[in-house]
Amino acid sequence: MRVPVLDLRAQYAEIRDDVRAAVDRVFESQGFILGPEVDALERELAAYCESRFAVGCSSGSDALLLALQALGVGPGDEVICPSFTFFATAGSIARCGATPVFVDIDPESYALDPAATRAAAARCRRLRAILPVHLYGRAADLAALEAVAREAGVPLVEDGAQAIGARDAEGRRIGGRGRVACFSFYPSKNLGGAGEGGLLTTDDAELAAHLVRLRVHGSSRRYVHEELGMNARLDALQAAVLRVKLPHLERWNAARRRHAEAYDAAFARAGALPAPAPFAAGGLPLRTPAPPPAPALHVYHQYVVRVPGERRDALRKDLEARGVGTDVYYPLGLHEQRCFAPLGYASGDLPETERAAREVLALPVYPELRDEQREWVVASLVSLLDA
Ligand SMILES: Cc1ncc(COP(=O)(O)O)c(C=O)c1O
Repeated sequence: MRVPVLDLRAQYAEIRDDVRAAVDRVFESQGFILGPEVDALERELAAYCESRFAVGCSSGSDALLLALQALGVGPGDEVICPSFTFFATAGSIARCGATPVFVDIDPESYALDPAATRAAAARCRRLRAILPVHLYGRAADLAALEAVAREAGVPLVEDGAQAIGARDAEGRRIGGRGRVACFSFYPSKNLGGAGEGGLLTTDDAELAAHLVRLRVHGSSRRYVHEELGMNARLDALQAAVLRVKLPHLERWNAARRRHAEAYDAAFARAGALPAPAPFAAGGLPLRTPAPPPAPALHVYHQYVVRVPGERRDALRKDLEARGVGTDVYYPLGLHEQRCFAPLGYASGDLPETERAAREVLALPVYPELRDEQREWVVASLVSLLDA
């Protein structure tokens, strides 16, 4: 049996006719940049995210950059973010000329640890924002992080690239709560486009208008530039494709959750414990994702288990030989990346990040995954771990 880590062709097969009709509509209009498709997508996604405003843009990375720029983050400023995340989270801070301040994760949520965030905020001299990431589709502890941000007098900028549709521990939608939230439509995301795309949500009308200006070279009227912006517009083709997919998103996220719950139950039957139980606690040397506290809703952009670090590479190879695709998000904390070496972090500075980087293993969890494929993943991994 073959179980790829992601199979976008299966999703396309389901919506092919609607996607082609939407693409045709854009070609017939010959309007390719912003325009009515983007306006409609922004309205639909603002409603979906339970936010007042949504602003489409060119990518999740550019959404982060626009958000930080709109909030006035610049050279000499500091922004707290996790090290255990995709590069763009910290890259966007550095591209503003500011300094990412890397804080360790809570090993249960994989998001910023609120106590460590509070301690880091107290050490900062020019803190301008706190940037939590809702990693793997699970909401960070927003209530606690909001309290830290309030005490520090800075806004929260949410990186929701992996978590569209997720709800936090108070049942509120990601992107409907922070000062501004950023999303990505990279094709592999839960709501993926046919290329690059991104979005920002906010309840702040002035901030939304500022973001709209910044994405067209800081201009609100043609050839009049109030400030320095960039070209960060969303294509009409992307918006049209995303509008076809959006009505399916709740069902797709529910299918991901159903697979995750089935994985949890099957691995538990084989003796696995939920994270963050240490391997020393015994059982099958596999830790399933800790379920978030109700009424939170995890959208399982990734279903990530922990395996002993020294066995992970061999396990991946053996799974591949059985037709099972896996991936590692992320094998190295950003504080250990060469481009951030001038910041002076050393190995051992962020122990939970470094342990997660050694142990995490992402298994196939896309909505179209068939039950027998999932069962093959479980049987393969359990037999390899038992060997
Ligand atoms: C956590 C996180 N932040 C930011 C991004 C950047 O998004 P994009 O690839 O659309 O620029 C991604 C996705 O790749 C991501 O996973």
